[in-house]
Amino acid sequence: MQHLMSPLDLSVEELDKLLTLANDIEKHPQKYAHACEGKKLATCFYEPSTRTRLSFEAAMLNLGGNVLGFSSADSSSASKGESVSDTIRVISCYADICAMRHPKEGAPLVASQRSGIPVINAGDGGHQHPTQTLTDLLTIRSLKGRLDHLTIGLCGDLKFGRTVHSLIHALIRYPHIKFILISPEELRVPSYIREDVLEKNHVPFQEVERLEDAMADLDILYMTRVQRERFFNEDDYVRMKDFYILNKKKMALAREDMIVMHPLPRVNEISVDVDDDPRAAYFKQAQYGVYVRMALILTLLEVTVC
Ligand code: CP
Repeated sequence: MQHLMSPLDLSVEELDKLLTLANDIEKHPQKYAHACEGKKLATCFYEPSTRTRLSFEAAMLNLGGNVLGFSSADSSSASKGESVSDTIRVISCYADICAMRHPKEGAPLVASQRSGIPVINAGDGGHQHPTQTLTDLLTIRSLKGRLDHLTIGLCGDLKFGRTVHSLIHALIRYPHIKFILISPEELRVPSYIREDVLEKNHVPFQEVERLEDAMADLDILYMTRVQRERFFNEDDYVRMKDFYILNKKKMALAREDMIVMHPLPRVNEISVDVDDDPRAAYFKQAQYGVYVRMALILTLLEVTVC
């Protein structure tokens, strides 16, 4: 039985197969409409979500399966003190596969060790968000035509942004990837990413504070929200929250073929006047999230469609 805790749980070859399956699902949705008939997906979300939970649910429904679950810790027996280990043992009696989001880093991993069904990490604290990474990789491969030879600007909250941590881990496996890390001093990527992931693997990167200094060099600009829920101090959040605002003026500095991505939700970091720019890819990215989660469910449930 296979779980998904980190994007690195999939080899580059497995990832390539999954993304190709997602592209086929996008082109031929009818072919997959009954693939999971009789199967159930449990969405166990101990933390708020719009895209991840609903795109998982849409994915299972598109495959002809059913969904059940809870959308907050308060509406589950976690509020009475039940552990994730006990919860997953029970959910294993009700469903065939589970997507779990939890504010504590490692909670989905603990669940997977006690589970009778495949568990997917749908975001654990500031740690990893592997299905967002699958979404991001599908978006990049579909819109740029490749996952190599790219200069990627990661901008905003690089300290707490789990999507950025997962994406860095996944992309360094491809040749000629370069990162420009754009953040204020307080929100730089954690030192373990800088030293143990980037430097150790000889991945070129530079750190800058001004978005304007990076724009002209980028194939992809990946914007992120300042993660209010992970700050200990509201004053620090207020000071940081509008540090970057991408607008039309800054977009004028970028290449014609650059794309702008964002895992969403956005707060103020991308002005709505950028939404109509053909380079704005963040709503397409959310759509790709459904196709890639359909492909993931099929893969983990070992369902093949001819
Ligand atoms: N991108 C993402 O994880 O969004 P949600 O928090 O709405 O699921």
